[in-house]
Amino acid sequence: EKGGYEHFMLKEIHEQPKAITDTFRGRMLAEENIIKMSSIEDNLDKFLNADRVIIVACGTSWHAGLVAEYLIEDMARIPVEVEYASEFRYRNPIITEKDVVIAISQSGETADTLAAVKLAKSKGAFVYGVCNVVGSSIARETHSGAYTHAGPEIGVASTKAFTTQITVFTLLALKLGKANKSLSDVAFENYIKKMQLIPKQIEKLLEIDEHVKSIAAVYKDATNCLYLGRGFNFPVALEGALKLKEISYIHAEGYPAAEMKHGPIALIDENMPIFVIATNKGHYEKVVSNIQEIKSRAGKIIAVVTEGDIQVKEIADHVIEIPDTEEALTPLLTTIPFQLLSYHIAVLLDRNVDQPRNLAKSVTVE
Ligand code: M6R
Repeated sequence: EKGGYEHFMLKEIHEQPKAITDTFRGRMLAEENIIKMSSIEDNLDKFLNADRVIIVACGTSWHAGLVAEYLIEDMARIPVEVEYASEFRYRNPIITEKDVVIAISQSGETADTLAAVKLAKSKGAFVYGVCNVVGSSIARETHSGAYTHAGPEIGVASTKAFTTQITVFTLLALKLGKANKSLSDVAFENYIKKMQLIPKQIEKLLEIDEHVKSIAAVYKDATNCLYLGRGFNFPVALEGALKLKEISYIHAEGYPAAEMKHGPIALIDENMPIFVIATNKGHYEKVVSNIQEIKSRAGKIIAVVTEGDIQVKEIADHVIEIPDTEEALTPLLTTIPFQLLSYHIAVLLDRNVDQPRNLAKSVTVE
């Protein structure tokens, strides 16, 4: 059932082009320049008149929520807050009938996320779910929602669920942005064009596997790693670090690149690998200066850059290239090398990739 792959995780990483295509299907009608999502159309007034959107989730799904915040605020200009479900449910949050609460969960069974949904409902909010497992508890408990079509995810470390969650939120943000005219028709059409290219671009990106494997071999014995990104790629840095922690048991932290000088920079020495996302549109010059700061402290830099990059290539120890796209869509690409990297490091360290110690695929107890 692993389809010729050694582990489910690797199979699921490679399934992403198909999973994203399946998530588009019937929703992104590129030829007509339309996004069709009946769950949004039927509740359009609720979204467009919402005081704010509150996203609740745990783990990787919470990281997808952070990307969603950047997407929805940028494209649809609706205020978004992202909360850990476990904090939200216990902190006596202010929720009103004018809030839209969105729960994100691959399994649809995460105890804290489910409890947050029930709490939001009891306060009169409109509650929307983004789940992968059809008919799961969260899918049933929410008023409406959109499924990701990732297919079954067996590996404990979430991969295709994450990228399909981001796909759903990109469609949702584009649709809302178009509906409330925060996005021009030209911008909307351009996004659709670029979105359509993503599955093929991921397919191509997956060919870097051997290159990533060689980088994994260099850093597999590190005891601490730092992941840095800005803007849309800040959550990708968090997700990269989580992926490494979960399956390799190497300590890793993700940070917004500019926060480095407020503390973590003290950790940097020649033994510290630092994975930096430095794509060409996302505050590129600022990230370059962050990289220079690391370099002058002898840190090892592994940079994820856009194809054809020159500047970062000169200073980084290793570079991984991703195809060009709009900045808002880069998380769908920049995530891939980090998934592969964690996978290869875990394999080289002989870890149990699909079932890491102490972890369960769905956390149904709090
Ligand atoms: O099923 P959910 O999306 O609600 O699960 C949330 C987290 O438990 C999950 O994302 C966890 O962090 C993964 N193991 C990450 O790879």
